[in-house]
Amino acid sequence: MNESPSGPDQALARADVLVIFGITGDLARVMTFHSLYRLEQRGLLECRIVGVAFDDWTMDQLFDRARDSIAGTGEAIDPVVFERLCHRLSYVHGDFADEGTYGRVAAEIGEASTPVYYLETPPSLFAMVVKGLASVGLTAGGRFVIEKPFGHDLASARALAAELHEHVDESQLYRIDHYLGKMGLEEILYLRFANTMLEPVWNRNYVDCVQITMAEDFGIAGRGSFYEPVGALRDVVVNHLMQLLAAVAMEAPSHGDVETIKDMQTSLFRSMAEADPARYVRGQFDGYREVDGVAADSTTETFCALELQIENWRWSGVPFFIRTGKLLPVTQTEVRLVFTHPPKLGFGLRRADSEPDQLVIRLDPSTGVRIVLNAQRADAATPSAVEFDMEFAAEGGEGPTPYEVLLLAAIEGRSARFGRQDTVEEAWRVMQPLIDAPPPVHPYAPGTWGPAEADALVADHGGWREPWL
Ligand code: BG6
Repeated sequence: MNESPSGPDQALARADVLVIFGITGDLARVMTFHSLYRLEQRGLLECRIVGVAFDDWTMDQLFDRARDSIAGTGEAIDPVVFERLCHRLSYVHGDFADEGTYGRVAAEIGEASTPVYYLETPPSLFAMVVKGLASVGLTAGGRFVIEKPFGHDLASARALAAELHEHVDESQLYRIDHYLGKMGLEEILYLRFANTMLEPVWNRNYVDCVQITMAEDFGIAGRGSFYEPVGALRDVVVNHLMQLLAAVAMEAPSHGDVETIKDMQTSLFRSMAEADPARYVRGQFDGYREVDGVAADSTTETFCALELQIENWRWSGVPFFIRTGKLLPVTQTEVRLVFTHPPKLGFGLRRADSEPDQLVIRLDPSTGVRIVLNAQRADAATPSAVEFDMEFAAEGGEGPTPYEVLLLAAIEGRSARFGRQDTVEEAWRVMQPLIDAPPPVHPYAPGTWGPAEADALVADHGGWREPWL
């Protein structure tokens, strides 16, 4: 999963053109132009870029959008770099339902033999675009980067794959989950398996529970119509947080090749019990129903907390608790192993004296590792927690943004950071009972940690720990 040619994520032929469907859309505005600019700045872009969208824009309009998008992220634009990026860009406008559009794309990309098509369109158009490209003979040798969500449940994920597989092979599909491009995820595997001090305790003999928190202090302003049919479970749990769980819980890959790593993820998900709706709490922040695009009687969850169980030798009996929500007190993502309590000791250590040891891996807003141990301070009557913190940034580890990582990986044909169909299906299988029988949503006040019901889930394990800020 590193960038070395001999490493597990072996590169294929480099893309000779990057075709972006939906380049005038919101995701491109917020993420894509900025990522392309940063790749250009680092000298990593070599190919042409063809934007495709419905809007009848001139090149100047596209350049203006690119400039505003990049500046909007706070990046100071270097005119020379921007100029280089603009030289790569061309634009095809057309309706994705119109066959003529694909003919124009074919004319634009000419003799390219390794095109990468990035579909940042609404999911309902994924199959249409791939079919359109197939109709003009553009699929051979191509790679298809598909934005999320990949289906909205198990059946639709299967149906979408079946439609795409009519025209392209699974190996050509690069499903985006930007959590796979984040710093932190890969580091978890190294942390776990490169340290003899850690691996032996990373199991049910020593771990009491695992708590995964993805908290966001902002709401869904401007995204109401996207979010309303989706909700927290589909938006971030089935994809992003399941990826995080896989990194924490999977076995060490027996070989470094991409497929073996993906096999280990799938195998982990296969060993997971279907989630239990009785161990699932849904919340909705007060005021959500007034957001544009949201139904006045909406029951969409903007918060959820759940318990998952893994039925294998390493984890059986260890609950994995996940919570996430909008308009929570902070923006922070972490995974926390809470170890078992030490026994009562004759020389005075009582069980209630201390918190159990904990190991925290923080992904956002910055990456780091914290180990919480108990120690006796000279003048204290009982032991107290001592925190050992390591920030990856301080170790030279803070790198490019997830979309830079993923776009470059697609351009270079490195597929380790993209989802495979069987893994996606297994994640949906685990979540499906929660989708089929969702419990009622409980209201919560903005700026709180969601409804009180979420605390009851974790009550037997000392409650949710305060995140490491
Ligand atoms: C997106 C979700 O996939 O991930 C958003 O649609 C969420 O709702 C976002 O806010 C979080 O990503 P990040 O990288 O900001 O943690």
